[in-house]
Amino acid sequence: MDIRSALQEAYKYGCEYTDQGSVADYIPELAKQNPDLVGATLISPNFEVCSIGDARYKFSAQSIAKIFIYLCVLETYDLDYVRQFIGVTPSSKPFNSILELELSHKNIPVNPFINAGAIVATSLLMQHYHENTFEKIRERAREVVNRSDLDYCHAIYVSESNSAYANRALTYMLLNDGIISTTQNVEDLLNSYFRACSLLVNTLDLATIGAVLSHNGKNAQGEQVLSTENAAILRTVMATCGTYDYAGEFALLVGMPAKSGVGGGIVATNRSGYGIGVFSPKLDKHGNSYVGVRMLERLSTLLNLHIY
Ligand code: DON
Repeated sequence: MDIRSALQEAYKYGCEYTDQGSVADYIPELAKQNPDLVGATLISPNFEVCSIGDARYKFSAQSIAKIFIYLCVLETYDLDYVRQFIGVTPSSKPFNSILELELSHKNIPVNPFINAGAIVATSLLMQHYHENTFEKIRERAREVVNRSDLDYCHAIYVSESNSAYANRALTYMLLNDGIISTTQNVEDLLNSYFRACSLLVNTLDLATIGAVLSHNGKNAQGEQVLSTENAAILRTVMATCGTYDYAGEFALLVGMPAKSGVGGGIVATNRSGYGIGVFSPKLDKHGNSYVGVRMLERLSTLLNLHIY
């Protein structure tokens, strides 16, 4: 099936589920999103771009930014060193779970995509880039998606900062357990993390990330925008941890490395050169876009993208 027909069919299938799920409201600014938006972009192995619906609508990356945070960490430190502070094990609890952190080995966050793991990753970046940490994350995001005007949303950033009780609790636990240095200013650390989460993206940006990872770090222009090794690490951790405690079911249903965010976006990648970005704000109970997962499920079947 050609990619345009596949995308149209997946979009139609996804739209049958727009009554399911609910928009994230624990960040008040996200609750204001129009719940009916649905968009998707597919980039083919030869970088042909195909978009549908609200594909160019901009929303906050949220946890999808954890790809860039972890990438910066991998590019700054040795993987063995990083693994002393952040694991690569799938999580079994919700993405902001305090219990998961309490039960994990040596109180080290199980992976870089749950909130505790991304907060530790940001603290490692703070030790190296100090007050320029967010700028470093944004610079790498701009390079990977090839868009120099990519930036964060001040209103969403402030809204999250004013309501981030769970993330503050996780951060103080990490300080208490010695995973984050006590010399670290908690608010500076969280502000870098929240600003990264509020980076505004559209489904073309997400599909571009997926395509770069699928092409082992190369973009449409043939430039190596991240290393082959780090592309492989990101694909692996996305496959096992990218949709949190839904990752097993997602692997069965969709069969592609992916990363979701509570803004409603999901980026999916594979080994065949495809990059996919989907968006719809209503989420399932794990924090993954309900319609987004359905569209990916359909695309996986129609284009034979299931890797398992
Ligand atoms: O830290 C938070 O709770 C949000 N900024 C990001 C969480 C998120 O996107 C979870 N993903 N589905």
